[in-house]
Amino acid sequence: MGYPAERPRRLRESRAVRALVAETTLASRQLVLPLFVRERADGPVPIASMPGVVQHSRDSLRKAVAEAAEAGVGGVMLFGLPLVKDATGSAALDPDGVLAVAIRDAVAEVGDAVVVMSDLCLDEFTDHGHCGVLDAEGRVDNDATLELYAQMAVVHAEAGVDMVGPSGMMDGQVGRVRTALDEAGHADTSILAYSAKYASAFYQPFREAIDSSLVGDRRTYQQDPANAREALREALLDVGEGADVVMVKPALGYLDLLPLIRSHVTVPVAAYCVSGEYAMVEAAAANGWIDRQRAVLETLTSIRRAGADVVLTYWATEVAGWLR
Ligand code: PBG
Repeated sequence: MGYPAERPRRLRESRAVRALVAETTLASRQLVLPLFVRERADGPVPIASMPGVVQHSRDSLRKAVAEAAEAGVGGVMLFGLPLVKDATGSAALDPDGVLAVAIRDAVAEVGDAVVVMSDLCLDEFTDHGHCGVLDAEGRVDNDATLELYAQMAVVHAEAGVDMVGPSGMMDGQVGRVRTALDEAGHADTSILAYSAKYASAFYQPFREAIDSSLVGDRRTYQQDPANAREALREALLDVGEGADVVMVKPALGYLDLLPLIRSHVTVPVAAYCVSGEYAMVEAAAANGWIDRQRAVLETLTSIRRAGADVVLTYWATEVAGWLR
């Protein structure tokens, strides 16, 4: 056929017809809000490179979780900032540590209404800032780290978390965490695997958000941005080890991986729109260079269109309000 019989513009004529044929939905239930909680904070502490995002106190965390639930957000992902860091991140294993307390608070606030998730990683807790413990040569020790993740997962499960998010990119982390959870009687606790997590410049605002003490980089464990097949390999390994959801991170620079992974696994696929992606949009919008609301909705819709079932985004509660 072709033009003039074919005129794709006909399906763009009105708001109604555009809505009728829209291929992608963006719903608040598909969004997960990452939240930071700082041990002994008196109130929310702003994060300069993430305008609008804060390090929460216990009280303000509970409020933020309640607001997210009220807005219809599907989940929250909790990150804890301990008062004291050390070489092995021992505060991460404390059943009364900042993250375990935050999990209990969040669950007490929302019960089953929102999926409560926790970051399962040591970088917020180690004084060197790496996601695992170091060996005698100063390298990140994969297998020693797995034992700590296993214990940390049980602490989170005991605090009532619905889903743990192992984000350290250690080999075998999903399988080790699954075994630990099962052996401790937590077969119902799910695993959201950070399967394809890249060594990205776009995490920099997050490092401010968690007061990261990292020197150097994470290139021996996070993925090389040049690789796509490797992401599929990681996702398939994680599914084999028992991942309930697999995730790609960051989102925008890695949209190509979403349909690739989506077509090879049957579990839900998530994408994390990270701190640097948030900061770029916020900075441009603050300068009047882009329309903030349109840019945010376009960003999240693109991530859904590429194949993400679930999107982690710092805009979750606000966007859920817009989608009402
Ligand atoms: C590691 C972790 C990171 C992020 C989430 N989990 C940082 C890193 O790997 O350096 C980044 C999130 C973001 O940038 O929004 N615990």
